[in-house]
Amino acid sequence: MIIRGAKTIRGRMLVPGDKSISHRAAMCAALADGTSSIRNFSTSSDCADTLSCLEALGVAIERDDNALLIKGVGIDGLHEPQAPLDCGNSGTTMRLLAGILAGQDFKSTLTGDESLRSRPMQRIIEPLRMMGAMISADEGRAPLVIQGHKSLNPISYELLLASAQVKSCILLAGLNAEGRTKVTENQITRDHTERMLRSFGVQIETGKAEREGATASFVAISGPARLTAGQVSVPGDISSAAYFIAAAALLSGSSLEIREVGMNPTRSLFLNQFRGLGLNVEITDAHETNNEPVGSIRIQARPSQQSGKADSSMTIRGLIVPQLIDELPLLAVVGSQVSGGIEIRDAAELRVKESDRIANTALNLRAMGASVKEFDDGLRVAGPTRLRGAKIDPSGDHRIAMAFTVAGLIAEGQTEITNSDCVAVSFPEFFELLESVVER
Ligand code: S3P
Repeated sequence: MIIRGAKTIRGRMLVPGDKSISHRAAMCAALADGTSSIRNFSTSSDCADTLSCLEALGVAIERDDNALLIKGVGIDGLHEPQAPLDCGNSGTTMRLLAGILAGQDFKSTLTGDESLRSRPMQRIIEPLRMMGAMISADEGRAPLVIQGHKSLNPISYELLLASAQVKSCILLAGLNAEGRTKVTENQITRDHTERMLRSFGVQIETGKAEREGATASFVAISGPARLTAGQVSVPGDISSAAYFIAAAALLSGSSLEIREVGMNPTRSLFLNQFRGLGLNVEITDAHETNNEPVGSIRIQARPSQQSGKADSSMTIRGLIVPQLIDELPLLAVVGSQVSGGIEIRDAAELRVKESDRIANTALNLRAMGASVKEFDDGLRVAGPTRLRGAKIDPSGDHRIAMAFTVAGLIAEGQTEITNSDCVAVSFPEFFELLESVVER
């Protein structure tokens, strides 16, 4: 894809359904008693992979014009798959399904593409083994061969690394455990699983955990628990909206409204980074759908707003990092336009995402003329820098491709994103929608 410089971003738009919420809606619907309908299901290939895995487990899924209809089989009604389940590029599919499969009385294999087969899975293998599942994996990597067990042991588990996927995996396994399964986390991570389970009628207990000097919280589920089918409406994906918000923030005179976006506080924290740079971000039409806050985001970049405001610099570190984890490559690009630049730390998890996002962000920002220092757990980008168009290889990583498309909009000359099709992992309509709001 060739990206040329833009003048402003203007318009009103919608973004497709949230990827994280869609995975959970599909999995809960599959395990529910009765047929659920899901509207605005994510168009991402990641979520399509979740659906095909569920079909391979014997779940009937139909599409009508407005919704996905999923005929639930109950928490104990999945069938042994005939072949390995292919999770494609999707860590969420693999880690959440592993929790479900751990509680089934059959053997199954989870595999994925080269990137997914290189990502760490010990983080879910350990708690699931504690719960009584037998899992084999080579050096903690997929393929994962899971011999499930219908009544798992409940556990009380402290998350040592902040991961919503690990938390969700344990909670979903907890559906089939005999008793109370509890997960304690020291850092807040996205809570879509808790919210979705509740909207399917499962009782979820949450609270503050007792811990000296640190804010810890817990979530607990009492199994065996049954889910009741229902109607789900998925809000727009705020992580997809983020690219448009960033582009509008960086192009003075921009004005954009993105309607019906998921505003879950564990996901929307990156908006504060933009507010800190002086961008006017307004949330209107706030409401709730299926226990998830939803709203419209209005962004107004002042005509006089210059990139590289004299008094701005950005530092992102500590407890908030998991809440903006997917936006960090994009924020690094934004930081290159701010005087004082940006420093991101405590984000070593970025190295084990769909690609090594610290290395790829650093490499590609340097290719565009920025000065970047890389740390084990983050990076520092100097700013403001007038970026130069370059050839960007996103290494198959959708978020790198989209973050550097935004960089291309503000760069001098043209930027070429190679293998740009990888955006379909989360956002197939990305380039088309961008074209519809860019003014040159
Ligand atoms: C996700 C959780 C995050 C995030 C990923 C989606 C989820 O991963 O990076 O894109 O849907 O639970 P971790 O929980 O592993 O950090």
